Amino acid sequence: MAKQPHKKHEVETTGHEWDGIQEFNNPLPRWWLWVFYACIVWAIWYSIAYPAWPGLKSATSGYLGFSTRAQVAESIAEFETKLAPMNDKLAGVELASIADDAELRGYAVSAGAAVFKTWCAQCHGSGAAGAKGYPNLLDDDWLWGGTMEDIHTTITHGIRNTDDEDARFSQMPAFGRDELLEKEQIAQVVNYVMSISAGNTPQDASLVAEGEVVFQDNCAACHMEDGTGDRFQGAPNLTDAIWLFGGDYASLYETVYNARYGVMPNWNTRLSEAEIRAVATYVHGLGGGE
Ligand code: HEC
Ligand code: HEC
Repeated sequence: MAKQPHKKHEVETTGHEWDGIQEFNNPLPRWWLWVFYACIVWAIWYSIAYPAWPGLKSATSGYLGFSTRAQVAESIAEFETKLAPMNDKLAGVELASIADDAELRGYAVSAGAAVFKTWCAQCHGSGAAGAKGYPNLLDDDWLWGGTMEDIHTTITHGIRNTDDEDARFSQMPAFGRDELLEKEQIAQVVNYVMSISAGNTPQDASLVAEGEVVFQDNCAACHMEDGTGDRFQGAPNLTDAIWLFGGDYASLYETVYNARYGVMPNWNTRLSEAEIRAVATYVHGLGGGE
């Protein structure tokens, strides 16, 4: 290889030359080389110690057995141990006394809000205001009762589900579909319901009187003679302006013709007793708790 004069001593070039510019062939600095070798050794060690090499189905799991999933599980477990005394207390005390213990109640409400966002919001709405068929939990209108005890039972066992034999259950007959009433009678009773519900006016006032007879014969057993409903059967109050399925003529006709069958899952198999109590406390505190 050609030698080139350099300032102090001669340096080998690689022999490459571009328009008079030549490339020196200086050796790499020693320190740099050692760092480079150390990196190679470290990389080999690392790929053995930690999950690294992809296989067909999964990657090598690594000598140290580390996984981010296990790390998450560990922090969750750590968190749970920290909260265990509070959760045990919440699960153990009398339901009614949760409200008297400010610290416990505060914990229950914030834990309950988290449970609600995860498990309940998809049906009841993130603000708990409900939607058609899914009751608003902010008001003081309750299908099944608004005491801590009632709310706790509703959440624990659910409503009309087939998974828990203690689920709250009742079934309004499908008066039209099952031919229990003539279409004419349904039109009458719907007009009667519109005449007793707040803020509503009958579509055809001439049918109201006959509708009242139909109502007393067929509906009063569940909705009560005055139409105010019955919480033992989850039969809604028909005299207020709050509707689960709609208070206009078409919605009411549909309700009486086909009946509705609102189902809520039971939570005793998915949530711990402490979580159920936390979310019950949260719901009870939303404004309508009795
Ligand atoms: C799959 C949908 C669904 C989910 C999820 C759900 N609910 Fe419900 N919930 C309903 C329906 C439907 C009703 C009304 C059933 C009826 O018509 O009686 C109801 C009723 C209730 C009631 C009774 C209201 C009253 O007026 O008496 C409470 C309390 C309640 N839910 C709380 C909860 C809580 C707390 C959660 C979360 C742990 C939850 N729900 C999750 C569908 C759901
Ligand atoms: C066996 C008891 C029972 C009888 C009898 C009954 N209902 Fe119901 N009714 C219910 C229940 C329970 C619900 C709630 C349905 C649900 O949540 O799925 C309901 C819901 C309704 C609703 C919906 C209310 C809302 O907020 O949207 C209307 C309207 C209604 N009933 C009218 C009637 C009329 C009219 C009759 C008589 C022709 C009648 N019901 C007979 C139990 C009954």
